[in-house]
Amino acid sequence: MEFSVQTANPAKAETACLVLPVYKDSELLPCVAKLDDASERLIGQLLERGDFDAALGNVQLIPFAPGLGAERLLLVGLGAREKCQEAAFLKALDAAMTALVKLPIDDASVAFTDVVLERDTAWKARKTLEAAERALYRFDQFKSQPAPKATLTALHLIVTDNAEVESAQYGARVGTAIGQGINFTRTLGNLPGNVCTPRYLAEQAETLGQASKGALSVEILDEEALEALGAGALLSVGRGSVEPSRLIVMRYQGAEEADEAPHVLIGKGITFDTGGISLKPGEGMDEMKFDMGGAAGVFGTVKAVLEIKPKINAVFIVAAAENMPDGAATKPGDIVKTLKGLTVEVLNTDAEGRLVLCDALTYAERFTPASVIDIATLTGAAIVALGHHATGLLSNDDDLALDVLEAGDGAWDRAWQLPLWDEYQEQLDSNFADLANIGGRPAGTITAACFLSRFAEHFPWAHLDIAGTAWHSGKQKGATGRPVGLLTQYLLDRETDAQIEIGVK
Ligand code: BES
Ligand code: MN
Ligand code: ZN
Repeated sequence: MEFSVQTANPAKAETACLVLPVYKDSELLPCVAKLDDASERLIGQLLERGDFDAALGNVQLIPFAPGLGAERLLLVGLGAREKCQEAAFLKALDAAMTALVKLPIDDASVAFTDVVLERDTAWKARKTLEAAERALYRFDQFKSQPAPKATLTALHLIVTDNAEVESAQYGARVGTAIGQGINFTRTLGNLPGNVCTPRYLAEQAETLGQASKGALSVEILDEEALEALGAGALLSVGRGSVEPSRLIVMRYQGAEEADEAPHVLIGKGITFDTGGISLKPGEGMDEMKFDMGGAAGVFGTVKAVLEIKPKINAVFIVAAAENMPDGAATKPGDIVKTLKGLTVEVLNTDAEGRLVLCDALTYAERFTPASVIDIATLTGAAIVALGHHATGLLSNDDDLALDVLEAGDGAWDRAWQLPLWDEYQEQLDSNFADLANIGGRPAGTITAACFLSRFAEHFPWAHLDIAGTAWHSGKQKGATGRPVGLLTQYLLDRETDAQIEIGVK
């Protein structure tokens, strides 16, 4: 999506559609009031007569706009002024963008930066472009007759104050990059398991590397290399699959000092999780194609970072395997040796995510990272604990945990911390190996993180369990693109001399 920032009087804005947010039972926003004056109180009258109900998320198209520069108006309800904070603002934005992309127009002007929030103009501009990119998203490559494509290609942001042009531009640039990253994550997640395999993910990394003009270097470790290295836990997961496993490593060098310690993101890339010999029940098993959501989130973040080019160093690692049952598959009770040297008794082959991640965490040590965050659709228990709104966060470092929570809040892609107390660790005791890969029913999300913590002793580390947030089930089934917003924000916040801040006023 192209964008521009304008300070023109909205009544004069020459555009195919002017999008105007309106509170319910309250004064018009300043830029909407300007337009109202210039149009014989068109909007004021519509509201007074009850022809437009400005309830949150309501939209109404006014197909003609006599006396105005715009060809049409799109009114968007913000709901009650006193309740209009971030969540309401974003709901109204989504409603507006969903309606906009259905219109036969190629450009639109939007006046959302006037809405009063405890967030600055850059944030509002960023969320506007992010919403536009998300609304344009389609996943119909497997439909014989795809729906017609949206025609919208340009968005003009109307800001009231000249002083805000620069920050609106920066916000819009970041929002576009994050929106496109989110859409890439959604596509990787939505692709079926017979297309999106570990080798397919490796190809995606190669493609990103080639397109990056040297900004991203890519290394793929195949099974032979992983065997030579000693990554026995990762390899044990793919044993029952005909699809070979891969460890994908992408390095981004953006810091002025080449040797500045990098931030490492690690994604769980189980391209299909049947549970293995500890087979899952059949119902809803198709959704285990989304079990590479952590990997997809890492890829989306890479895409956003390549676009925004922050001055940081980062390493992106994806641990990819397919978890299948066959004659060669790992069995309950099997003992495998991790890259770190610790032995693991695999009591349940469905607790496979931690097995690929533990070797990736050990691999990350070689980069002497400033921080490591792993992202994984790791436990059904995370859905029981937090539902589908908050991503689960666990960490061995309180400062890092705060940074991650703040990034989630800033991006409005929020996480919630669970305790990683030592008391939980003994649930992983094994009679036969150094540790077991499951810790029983209580606190399943925490014991999964406890397992990972054994491999994260040498750096500040945080774990994001996105089992409840990476995709929607039911009629709206599909990947959400979370937590690309959080991760990109986290990396942007690590830039020590960022030009413009985005966020809370
Ligand atoms: N990928 C699943 C977790 C999952 C399940 C995410 C459902 C989203 C929806 C993971 O590999 C898994 O199977 N975890 C087990 C762990 C258990 C065996 C300790 C689980 O959560 O049941
Ligand atoms: Mn599993
Ligand atoms: Zn899994």
